[in-house]
Amino acid sequence: MDDAKKMPKYLHLNGKVVPYEDAKIHILSPCVKYGAGVFEGIRGYWNDQQEEMYVFRLAEHLDRLQYSMKVMRYDEVYSNEQMANWTLELIRANNFRETVHIRLMTYVDGAGEQNSTGPIGIAISAIARPIPKKLSEGVSAGVSSWVRLADNAMPVRVKCNANYQNGRLASIEAKLNKYDASLMMNARGTVAEGPGMCFFAIRNGKPITPPVTGSILESITRDTLIRLMGEYMSLETEEREIDRSELYACDEAFYCGTGWEITPVTSIDRAPVGDGKVGAITKKLQDLYFKVAKGEIGDHAPWRTPVYKRPNARAA
Ligand SMILES: Cc1ncc(COP(=O)(O)O)c(C=O)c1O
Repeated sequence: MDDAKKMPKYLHLNGKVVPYEDAKIHILSPCVKYGAGVFEGIRGYWNDQQEEMYVFRLAEHLDRLQYSMKVMRYDEVYSNEQMANWTLELIRANNFRETVHIRLMTYVDGAGEQNSTGPIGIAISAIARPIPKKLSEGVSAGVSSWVRLADNAMPVRVKCNANYQNGRLASIEAKLNKYDASLMMNARGTVAEGPGMCFFAIRNGKPITPPVTGSILESITRDTLIRLMGEYMSLETEEREIDRSELYACDEAFYCGTGWEITPVTSIDRAPVGDGKVGAITKKLQDLYFKVAKGEIGDHAPWRTPVYKRPNARAA
């Protein structure tokens, strides 16, 4: 399902823009040995008419990265302003004029052990990523036999590299079972999320989504969608536990996330969701989301950081 990725000319490593080939870390670093790294995935949306790229909800992503570094007990942290400026500098260095996926990674470098908390390195990538076909076609989902991490085992609100082995196993299982994507339940047996995305169902015209205490990442897209549906579509989202059997009763369903944007789910465990086609609320929400993210609707301007029309980022 993956659209082909073209690697960029430049990446950012520890304060410098470097050629793609030169962004390397040591094989014995705690990041490589133990997954001691945290990251953010962010989108920069290109607006053709305005000839501008907008980085979407940069401040909120950087705040979450700060939180991740705090939970993982990093010795040093970079300021949001510094990280924002490096991100914009990298996009400009590659001269992107198309939608990109940005990854900010901070990691435990050096040759330390499992409990090392520094030195801390930073790397940033921005890779062109057009809107994939699955957004208009929808995907099939299968409930995973892998249970989503519990917060008393690993901090699920943190985007820690090591956490992603949980979702990786679920995704591999989905692929083996010929589903496009996986849906994980939490230790209580209610719906949690997908391996890199949150989940919404529409039941009797009402959006429902698992609560932030349901072993999910506190997704920024989830927050955006709850607000957009309330403000523009008069739909109040119910944040509550979703039982497995409810999955087979919903009229529409979709995954959401920075990477997955709003991806319709058209079947779950091979049972069609609603009529098995992309639902009307989902389509309307996709349209609204992209208009806001690309700045085609002027509202929520603080969510969009322009890349080219200002020399430095707002103190994000
Ligand atoms: C495990 C997980 N859940 C949910 C999400 C969606 O979060 P966001 O909307 O902040 O990108 C992501 C993606 O970052 C994720 O990795």
